[in-house]
Amino acid sequence: MKRIGVGLLGFGTVGLGVYQALQNNREVILKRTRILFDVKKVLVSNQEKQRQAEGVKPLITTDFAQVLEAGVQVVVEAIGGVEPARRYIEEALTAGCHVVTANKELIAKHGSDLERLAHRQGVKLLYEASVGGGIPVLGTIQHFLQTNRIQRITGILNGTTNYLLTEMDKKGISFAEGVAIAQQLGYAEADPSNDVDGLDAAYKLAILARLAFEVDISTTEIPREGIRDITPGELALAKKLGYAVKLLAQVDCYGENRPLSLRVGPGLLPLAHPLATVDGVYNGIHIEADRVQDITLVGQGAGAQPTASAMLEDLCNLYRLPLSYVDPRRDAVVLPQVSSGDRFI
Ligand code: NDP
Ligand code: HSE
Repeated sequence: MKRIGVGLLGFGTVGLGVYQALQNNREVILKRTRILFDVKKVLVSNQEKQRQAEGVKPLITTDFAQVLEAGVQVVVEAIGGVEPARRYIEEALTAGCHVVTANKELIAKHGSDLERLAHRQGVKLLYEASVGGGIPVLGTIQHFLQTNRIQRITGILNGTTNYLLTEMDKKGISFAEGVAIAQQLGYAEADPSNDVDGLDAAYKLAILARLAFEVDISTTEIPREGIRDITPGELALAKKLGYAVKLLAQVDCYGENRPLSLRVGPGLLPLAHPLATVDGVYNGIHIEADRVQDITLVGQGAGAQPTASAMLEDLCNLYRLPLSYVDPRRDAVVLPQVSSGDRFI
């Protein structure tokens, strides 16, 4: 068994989710990876705040230096925003730590530089949770579509706005009520205008475009419109005409030397489109490519546990043997007896 020291930066919705998931899934992680992830320090901004988690109190600090001094091999960043997250990640990589982050703003703005730094230091920077919450979309593009020429990605990439549009449509709640609930549920960004004005989706689209098309896109280059002006009446009318209104993020490129085209804004999807029924906090990503043709990934795009899932997968993938689905060093597992004849219905 290997013991890996983890420094956790941030203990809000995501940080707490990661801490709890590491505790609750300790056995399954141990069984599958032979690794025990041991949280050694937790960085927050307010030392006095009550923390709803067992055993965390003695780990809390407001001094980042203490995180690196605690002898950690991985830093998990769940603070958000650019500074001080960027500085902490740079210091962690420079000190030889791997980094896992959920920070789409930071990765969209500085991902390339940070990845270069990680490469120079011989460590890894993984950020699956930065796009699509629990949906393994970055891994799918990087590992399972690497031979495809991707032509178009269309995504519902923001859980808060999708939740809002769904609730406005199905329950007729107001825009302001919906934002307040999304905040309570922990879906919204620190500043929810980043969600409703499409900036969060634009950060995620820039990250997808970078992985799919190897280009660095500044979010200021992406034409963007939010959902503030959409009314329940418009949602009902669209449905009557056979469409769903979604906040869509789209990038396409048809050919090596053809220009890339990107956009974020409300769009009408025919009800038969695979993303049209992606409702609530769910996100969906529809990828069109020359070999696979098209695939759709759907799952919870925000919230503590789906996001923690993506971060735990990154943590384990830091240490996973490449090119092997089952670790050949793993002991054979005796399966429990499976009863036959059970029916689905
Ligand atoms: P929260 O606001 O819930 O938590 C932020 C945490 O960071 C808090 O614990 C806060 O400390 C701490 N913090 C803030 N500023 C500092 C600082 N300067 N130094 C040290 N600690 C600091 O945010 P979320 O958990 O919702 O989001 C975290 C990140 O995850 C963001 O990048 C977000 O975009 C991303 N993300 C969020 C998802 C979600 O569903 N919420 C889903 C996917 C990604 P304190 O507790 O003392 O206030
Ligand atoms: N605020 C984001 C959303 C969190 O609502 O999708 C997940 O990235």
